[in-house]
Amino acid sequence: MTKRLNEKVMVITGAAQGIGRGCAQMAAREGAYVVIADIQKEAGEATAAAIRAAGGQAVFQATNVVNETECAALMQAASETYGRIDVLVNNVGWFPRATLEETTTELWEQVLQINLRSAFYCCKYAIPAMRASGGGSIINIGSLNGIQGLPNLLAYSVAKGGLLSLTRTLAGAHAADNIRVNYLIPGWVLSEGELALQHSRGVSDADLQRAGQSLRLGRHQTPEDVAYAVVYLASDESAQVTGTILNIDAGATTLPISPGTLYVG
Ligand SMILES: NC(=O)c1ccc[n+]([C@@H]2O[C@H](COP(=O)([O-])OP(=O)(O)OC[C@H]3O[C@@H](n4cnc5c(N)ncnc54)[C@H](O)[C@@H]3O)[C@@H](O)[C@H]2O)c1
Repeated sequence: MTKRLNEKVMVITGAAQGIGRGCAQMAAREGAYVVIADIQKEAGEATAAAIRAAGGQAVFQATNVVNETECAALMQAASETYGRIDVLVNNVGWFPRATLEETTTELWEQVLQINLRSAFYCCKYAIPAMRASGGGSIINIGSLNGIQGLPNLLAYSVAKGGLLSLTRTLAGAHAADNIRVNYLIPGWVLSEGELALQHSRGVSDADLQRAGQSLRLGRHQTPEDVAYAVVYLASDESAQVTGTILNIDAGATTLPISPGTLYVG
């Protein structure tokens, strides 16, 4: 039986752990050739090795996505290894909690670089390769904060809002190249990054469990919940979908906060 991503070449940034790793694993099971880009060498290699051990195709490319030269090298390596680039998932993100008063110039710059400038560089160097092979799909991992904004995630909210604008602008600019660009909103996923952050703020696992149970559909989202949507947007099943927002967040973006929700923030 033909798999949903049969031989599609897929670059996923920030795939050493968390949501990105879940996407890489599911994409490989669906037949994609996955290029894992991350700043964490050991964890990135381990993710690629686990995919290969399970019978999939994956390589790791050490990349700091805030560096333009490294993003260019990533796309070059993907093209040389597998012959083309069909899908780019801009998944890298960093979400330190800080209000306006708490946000220093340095933090502002760092958050904007990691969450927004990275996607600009990756698109800049992936799109020519996609155009050369007849098209592609770009999936930008956004956030509810890119639409609503949370006061204690100021710079992150601005960066994710910018990512939405990048999505729509590139979707319009490159439709004629058969390149689709979409924005996916995960809900609340207890990834390694999110868990470390919550623990550093003194939030316990029991608090997080109770908060999850109070969400509208009764639990946190998982990397797999997000990965199902990434596979859809990467596949030809979504051939007529571009410039859109896909929420995988149990209604968090579109519905009012449900009564009784314990939101840890
Ligand atoms: N976890 C959530 O609840 C949640 C909710 C909404 C959106 N998101 C978004 O989903 C995406 C993934 O988040 P996650 O929760 O899996 O995070 P995570 O912290 O668990 O994983 C992020 C990955 O990005 C890598 N990374 C960070 N900076 C990098 C850099 N400069 N160059 C290369 N790699 C770098 C890290 O090494 C890590 O492997 C992010 O864009 C995040 O904003 C997460």
